[in-house]
Amino acid sequence: MKKIIIAIDGYSSCGKSTFAKAVAARLGYLFIDTGAMYRAVTLYAMRHGIADDPAAVVAALPQMRIEFRFNPASGRSDVYLNGENVEAEIRRIDVSNRVSAVSGIPEVREKLVAMQQEMGRAKGVVMDGRDIGTVVFPEAELKIFMTADPKVRAERRYKEQIAKGEPVSMEEVERNIRDRDRQDESRAVSPLRRAEDAVVLDNSSMSLAEQMTWIENQFKHFES
Ligand code: DC
Repeated sequence: MKKIIIAIDGYSSCGKSTFAKAVAARLGYLFIDTGAMYRAVTLYAMRHGIADDPAAVVAALPQMRIEFRFNPASGRSDVYLNGENVEAEIRRIDVSNRVSAVSGIPEVREKLVAMQQEMGRAKGVVMDGRDIGTVVFPEAELKIFMTADPKVRAERRYKEQIAKGEPVSMEEVERNIRDRDRQDESRAVSPLRRAEDAVVLDNSSMSLAEQMTWIENQFKHFES
């Protein structure tokens, strides 16, 4: 199969990253979790007490160096902020609660989109996010729009947070998911929407193995 770009967009806690990671491993592609980049900017803003001040976030952008480094222990790439591994910290629920607002700042998107386009220049990437098929790579060969029942998503996220030892309630998780869906879909810049040529994958009742079988069928279009 020739090297392509696979764009995966969709709602939060849909299992996008798990699926994207498995697809990248199957093809030997690079996996890029763009949500981690927005989370890293949000963490920087929170640490500097400027998360509620878009102008200050924009002014601080040149001070933020965001990169991915391969972690041999997990076999995946971790996100680094100014040389510090922030992979665990960016997943905290207080970061999740603020990331939609920070990711709605046009200049933040401009900087991160440019970085993402550079990372995908050589193709052979699986990139997951909200605007990959619409804005970052509108010419991507394969676009997937993932969705799942909000109740199923809340249960998955709740289990993840508890497994990490973070004391959250189911109500808080459900509220966070609802709020983020609303903010992601209604923001002025690059709102979450399905690209017209994206194939929809609703994985509410699908295992990862079933999702991999599903994508093998998609690959058939690219075999030559
Ligand atoms: O995928 P995630 O839940 O880690 O993403 C975190 C937030 O970042 C999410 O609320 C929306 C935002 N985001 C975005 O605006 N554009 C992307 N390409 C990826 C994420």
